[in-house]
Amino acid sequence: MDQTIDIDTATDTSRISISAHYTGYIWYNNGLSHKQFVTPIGRAAYWALKPMNAFMQAMIGASIDTFLLQRHFVLDHLVEQAIAEGYDQVVELAAGLSSRGYLIKQAYPNVHYVEGDLPGMSARKSGLLDKLGRPFGHITQPCNILDESGPHSIEALLGSLDKTKKTLIITEGLVNYFDLPTIRKVWARMAVALKGFPQARYITEVYPKLEQHPSYRYVKVAQKVVGFFTQGEYPLHYNSNETMQQGFLEDGFATVSVTAPEDYYGTLDMPTSSRQSLVRLVVAEV
Ligand SMILES: C[S@@+](CC[C@H](N)C(=O)[O-])C[C@H]1O[C@@H](n2cnc3c(N)ncnc32)[C@H](O)[C@@H]1O
Repeated sequence: MDQTIDIDTATDTSRISISAHYTGYIWYNNGLSHKQFVTPIGRAAYWALKPMNAFMQAMIGASIDTFLLQRHFVLDHLVEQAIAEGYDQVVELAAGLSSRGYLIKQAYPNVHYVEGDLPGMSARKSGLLDKLGRPFGHITQPCNILDESGPHSIEALLGSLDKTKKTLIITEGLVNYFDLPTIRKVWARMAVALKGFPQARYITEVYPKLEQHPSYRYVKVAQKVVGFFTQGEYPLHYNSNETMQQGFLEDGFATVSVTAPEDYYGTLDMPTSSRQSLVRLVVAEV
């Protein structure tokens, strides 16, 4: 069925959406996703990046995929932890072709799970879920994090939710596609909007700029590859856990914790890297 999609060119970042095909394939290839969310573009991108991944694996003992999988495993864990604490309303922004919402709804049918993404990606995901028969009552909604008002804004999406419920927002694979002032504006808006709920939490991963890291020059190569694929920049944010934490506090969050995948090596069964990890996990509450 044809769908009419409104696009505001000033905030149109749909060039980034191709990356969701790649990560969607990585989740599937590692047993973390339903086959329905695999696309030919994702499969092709996987094969195109295979030499680069093999190179990184040989040089630093971990590939781009290692860091993707680490963040995905830890984010899954953090979402499940929040659900165990009574967060029964979850909004996943920029959900792309990830199966997280589908799997969470399967495991926790009472959790209200809403996925937001740009109109084009949201329509695609919606179509794929329709083909699965939407067995678990999954909701997809167009949302552009850059829209400060209007029907596709974060504010509108949160406005459609139950204001009495503990509410969680999660983003994965989104924030480093924007420069820091732009994404901080989004975080600050998010913090304001989340204050309308009795308890609210935001979870994300952030790739920091760790210039002293022994693998930093390979990070720069990976950054260029991602930028090439998505026709834009992939800026790294903050240079330490402390500055990252401080930034989120300044953006309006009341408590902020910053961890690294290695903090979970003892508890989660996931790929490890011999060197300090290159990704950080942020849990922020208003
Ligand atoms: C790397 S993918 C991540 C997808 C999924 N979270 C995952 O980890 O597999 C980036 C996602 O961000 C979405 N995106 C890009 N710009 C956006 C915006 N302005 N607002 C909301 N989502 C956006 C893309 O459509 C895409 O689905």
